Amino acid sequence: MVWQNIIIQGDCLRAIENLTPEYHGKIKLIYIDPPFFSGTDYSLKKRYDESSSNDSPEIEDIKTYSDKWEGGLEEYLKFMRERLELMPELLTEDGSIWIHLDFHVAHYIKTILDEIMGYHNFVNQIIWKRTNSPKIQSKGFGSQHDIILLYAKDSSNFRTNLVYREHDERALKPYSYKDERGRFRLIEIEAQGIQRTEGRKRYEWRGRTAPYLYKREKLDAWWEQGLIYESRNNRYSKKQYLADVPGIPVSDLWLDIPPLQGSSKEYLGFITQKPEALLERIIHAATIKNDIVADFFAGSGTTAAVAEKTGRKWIACDWSEISIDLIQKRLEQIWKKWPKGKEPIKANLVKVDNS
Ligand SMILES: C[S@@+](CC[C@H](N)C(=O)[O-])C[C@H]1O[C@@H](n2cnc3c(N)ncnc32)[C@H](O)[C@@H]1O
Repeated sequence: MVWQNIIIQGDCLRAIENLTPEYHGKIKLIYIDPPFFSGTDYSLKKRYDESSSNDSPEIEDIKTYSDKWEGGLEEYLKFMRERLELMPELLTEDGSIWIHLDFHVAHYIKTILDEIMGYHNFVNQIIWKRTNSPKIQSKGFGSQHDIILLYAKDSSNFRTNLVYREHDERALKPYSYKDERGRFRLIEIEAQGIQRTEGRKRYEWRGRTAPYLYKREKLDAWWEQGLIYESRNNRYSKKQYLADVPGIPVSDLWLDIPPLQGSSKEYLGFITQKPEALLERIIHAATIKNDIVADFFAGSGTTAAVAEKTGRKWIACDWSEISIDLIQKRLEQIWKKWPKGKEPIKANLVKVDNS
């Protein structure tokens, strides 16, 4: 069957129920960025620049969704639990679910997910620095980060793909050597500190006797490849060229993905819109091409947009008509820039009955 991406308009509870028979065990990644229990109404800042004759384009505030809960925390957690409980069924055995939250409820949702997914399938709590200028608080500290909880369907089958972030100034500092092959740093090949005195055998190699960390054959091979650096006092180290290092392996602390600014090209005026770079990282860590990615609280469609650009199949659901309209327009913009000859996979719009 030829794959068609799916946009679903409606409550994700019904959407997931409807999807489950066909997509049971087929989705590799579920990323959701649901309401955070923030007590706020959110809007879309729509610009009408074409029609305005003056320099300042008109901006209209259109209400998109409410994150206010009459029944308080209890009502919110019930809402989340009902929907979270349905999601694991959809995941492949090596799949994962990433839930984007903040300080308001992340810890309550963690305990619910421990129950649903199993504590042993909890993989990471990722901290994303979402703003450079936290609001001053009357009590306590301003909040500067969001929390992304990562659970595997089955941790014994799960492993994130290696993702790297760019070298920063601090990481580049040791690469202070240079030769005709480029910048490099030195890596010890002799045991240091306690390792040195732990009974490691010393042997002679190219005129220097030392407790080498590697076998003679390995050192010979590196020598042949020009990867050994000899200092003036006849001490050897291994050269690590910057060009051979793809970047710094990403940890659970994400400080390098900047928040969306009002002036960012990708910003559509959707107040809780997340940066594409954030979704790129998640999608690259959790999937490969042609895997299915789903987002059941799609908002402005960041997940769908990145999945589309990176060759993943996708399902995006939101109950707001404004979001659905925004997602469709966002995709059309992507397709406009599609390389010649590359046919976009059309997305089917499905409406689910919320009753
Ligand atoms: C925080 S926003 C998502 C933002 C999105 N990650 C982005 O980058 O644009 C949450 C979205 O969830 C939607 N939503 C809330 N409850 C929902 C439900 N029960 N089913 C489907 N969508 C829902 C809201 O309409 C809103 O668009």
